Amino acid sequence: MSVLAKERIRQRADLTYKFNTTSGRHGWLRLTPAYSVKVVEELINRYDDSRRVLDPFCGTATTALCAGYHGHEGVTTDINPFLVWFGQVKTAHYSDATIASTRRTCARVLEAVKRDAVEPATPPPIHNIARWWCSDALQFLCMLKAGIEAESEEDSPERDLLTVAFCRTLIKLSNAAFNHQSMSYKEDRQLSIPFDIDVSEAFVEDTRFVLWGAEENPPGAASVLFGDARKLSDAVAGPFDLVITSPPYANRMSYIRELRPYMYWLGFLDSGRDAGELDWSAIGGTWGVATSRLTDWERSTESLVPPSLEVALNGIAHHTNKNGKILANYVAKYFEDLWEHFNSLITVLADGSELHYIVGNSTFYGVLLPVEQIYATMLEQLGFEDVRPNVIRKRNSKKELFEFDVSARWGGPKSGTCPQATRSAPTGMTVG
Ligand SMILES: C[S@@+](CC[C@H](N)C(=O)[O-])C[C@H]1O[C@@H](n2cnc3c(N)ncnc32)[C@H](O)[C@@H]1O
Repeated sequence: MSVLAKERIRQRADLTYKFNTTSGRHGWLRLTPAYSVKVVEELINRYDDSRRVLDPFCGTATTALCAGYHGHEGVTTDINPFLVWFGQVKTAHYSDATIASTRRTCARVLEAVKRDAVEPATPPPIHNIARWWCSDALQFLCMLKAGIEAESEEDSPERDLLTVAFCRTLIKLSNAAFNHQSMSYKEDRQLSIPFDIDVSEAFVEDTRFVLWGAEENPPGAASVLFGDARKLSDAVAGPFDLVITSPPYANRMSYIRELRPYMYWLGFLDSGRDAGELDWSAIGGTWGVATSRLTDWERSTESLVPPSLEVALNGIAHHTNKNGKILANYVAKYFEDLWEHFNSLITVLADGSELHYIVGNSTFYGVLLPVEQIYATMLEQLGFEDVRPNVIRKRNSKKELFEFDVSARWGGPKSGTCPQATRSAPTGMTVG
């Protein structure tokens, strides 16, 4: 596509997570890098017959839920245990009886909180908690959490649904703003609960919203599994005939950082050290300990480095770029992980299966990283056919940033292609 044609592609909010916030279960919690239900539906609508749809990078389970709503079987994995829990709750089937009993439990919880009949839960060990919640909001949330735990059974669907509502309320009562790429604090921080928020009513409203989504059960099955996308066959049983996913972008976004308020409140994180470890285990993570580990990280001799990646790595590592070396390591590791992922993906694909990777390009120090082209080269090297990086939308005001649908078809292993096991360098490429 020409530069001019690309410039005509608008920044379309309907193709981002913003569209999801009003779409039933899809709107339960927001994750900034979640893709739009609309993108997934447009792709899924192309397939009439029932498919086994895989999303190796679950996030908020957009693909699995969409697949389920369209009568397909959705299977998805994520390395973040909070997202696995959330995806399972989001894709589960809820009976009318469960919905009615959740409504009654919500009323009992608020009654117990009002009567001071519960011991407040311990506040979460999140760094600098006073920046997140004023003392009134924090006290209410500690009471609410204890109330949910006292009035619902452990591992029950009622507890799960009320916990999702709790997550919505804790953000509503916080000083966090989502108006930035990553979660940040509101500019004019309000250090008390705004007077127009009745805290109990906020929770009632959130429960109502969650139950409204829960009433719409997907007819198709969905499984949300803990797993590493670099070792897919350990987590899922193939074969799959459609893959729709948005992998982490090479833009240093930390999902752990973004999700930390939920993760600390629900006990998925206990310390900053844990947060850094979890980020290091994820593809593209660079938060906390992950950043320092990148300094000493060394490139493997078994990965594929297409020429366009080598050029970008040299540009980023240039001595005039202050943190160039560490960022070049970050990018090299990102693509090593992706190469490992694609190698594991082919072990669970059916012949004739189709892929759609929704991914954006990036820049570092003005060096354009043509992520979509590097993906395309990797897929071709593995023997995928009809590999096409199609531009979908402009990402933000930077004129060179776009989001792509990198699509391809898997016809089965071919001789002369380069799966990782062969460890040989294809023509024009370096290994390691
Ligand atoms: C761009 S987000 C996916 C967003 C998702 N499409 C949605 O709509 O919410 C990428 C996800 O990949 C996950 N991830 C990162 N490394 C992973 C790995 N090695 N295996 C599985 N999931 C991983 C992150 O935790 C994150 O949830």
